[in-house]
Amino acid sequence: MKMHTVAELLKKENALQEVTIKGWVRSFRSKRFIALNDGSTLNNIQCVVNFEETDDATLKRITTGAAVSITGELTESQGQGQNFEIQVSKIEILGDSDPENYPIQPKKHSFEFLRENAHLRTRTNTFSAVMRLRSSLSFAIHKYFNENGFYYMHTPIITGSDAEGAGEMFRVTGLDPKNPPLKEDGNVDYSKDFFGKETNLTVSGQLEAEAYAMSLGKVYTFGPTFRAENSNTSRHLAEFWMIEPEVAFMDLAGNMDLAEAFMKSVLSYILEHNQEDLEFLEKRLLDEEKTKPQAERSDMSLIEKIKFVVDNNFKRVSYTEAIDILKNSKPNKKKKFNYIIEEWGADLQSEHERFLVEKHFKCPVILFDYPADIKAFYMRLNEDGKTVRAMDILFPGIGEMVGGSQREERLDVLKAKMKALNIDEEELWWYLDLRKYGTAVHSGFGLGFERLVMFATGMGNIRDVIPFPRTPQNADF
Ligand code: 4AD
Ligand code: MG
Repeated sequence: MKMHTVAELLKKENALQEVTIKGWVRSFRSKRFIALNDGSTLNNIQCVVNFEETDDATLKRITTGAAVSITGELTESQGQGQNFEIQVSKIEILGDSDPENYPIQPKKHSFEFLRENAHLRTRTNTFSAVMRLRSSLSFAIHKYFNENGFYYMHTPIITGSDAEGAGEMFRVTGLDPKNPPLKEDGNVDYSKDFFGKETNLTVSGQLEAEAYAMSLGKVYTFGPTFRAENSNTSRHLAEFWMIEPEVAFMDLAGNMDLAEAFMKSVLSYILEHNQEDLEFLEKRLLDEEKTKPQAERSDMSLIEKIKFVVDNNFKRVSYTEAIDILKNSKPNKKKKFNYIIEEWGADLQSEHERFLVEKHFKCPVILFDYPADIKAFYMRLNEDGKTVRAMDILFPGIGEMVGGSQREERLDVLKAKMKALNIDEEELWWYLDLRKYGTAVHSGFGLGFERLVMFATGMGNIRDVIPFPRTPQNADF
């Protein structure tokens, strides 16, 4: 017998004699109506139980959370909001769920509570919609690169290098943590480690992606990355997924074009394929907005915001222009933007970024040509000798979504930079080789996948767009 999904049945043209469906009971009303969900769609299918013909013991076991198998006739529904329902002829309880203890009751739960039940939270509409969108965006990302001639490469998780030079790495060790071998000076002897050297979980696959771009031309990675930065914010995770394309013979302008086209493409994909989930999340947000004072409410709905990004050009602004804008804007403590910057050269704080995208330009902004001193060692130095060909893409409501650059392809300039920053040449000998043998202009960027999912779903906390979040003091699942 063919197994059906709810999504499939609700899309049917005609009623069917007999169907079988398996899923979890969302609710059971009046000993008669089961709302059944199987994850295939936001919608439940209504299953009508003939309680006179069903024994009491079975009826008692139809509880919220229980897994059931239902067979019956698919008929046109009299009820509002759905075309079909199932007239149950046979119900089998596959897995009981104690209604007293089941955490996901048929009522509104706070996101904090659901985070503590991350293993069950996708049994709610909000989290199932978010995770379906996450899946759909992942697919759209691979689709985009595949259709545009990129190779998907897998970069190592365990590395010896610190790609970002920020020192925020999780150490990997094969040593006995209680009794590590020590050198004479009392420091840990990493030569006795599993790898014979210090290693860490990767912060970015960029350096290895550069190696592949310099032979395969156009590549991308999409994998987990790890940062031991102790920032307990709604936009930082210790383990997050990053998409990193890297392209040979492409300069910074090409990099901006690629990032913009790519983001527009994946967002259009979900507009086209995930309408139901987007509409649900949009409604959730509208309800949330209603609890806010008028002045703080957003003037666009979720879907309007996504369409806006798809349909409008990102604004491209140099760091120097941005500083001028910030300098000429008056601080406004009331609106929580305190954006005076005194000096060219300072790193932009999130309130500056928010001011630029949310108040000044009111659209995604690509900031480029940052001061060399506040950016990573591998970025291409400009002719002015003080800025690098870096770009950050800032999004309304999110802040930094993308960080990228044209890479320094000149061996002597790269070596001088590494020397100034005390980066060991021997550690990156292979990276320097890429500049010795057939070096060329190349560029790439990293997109924080969870930040994209936040934008696409309107979720306000990054912990709510990844299945099992890792943050400081929290790896509970
Ligand atoms: O700006 P970042 O640090 O850039 C890089 O790692 C480059 N190597 C990328 C490249 O050029 N291939 O990180 C890129 C993006 C950020 O813009 C942000 O969206 C995301 O990764 N990100 C984080 N997302 C969640 N939690 C964190 N702790 C993040 N740190 C960065
Ligand atoms: Mg960055």
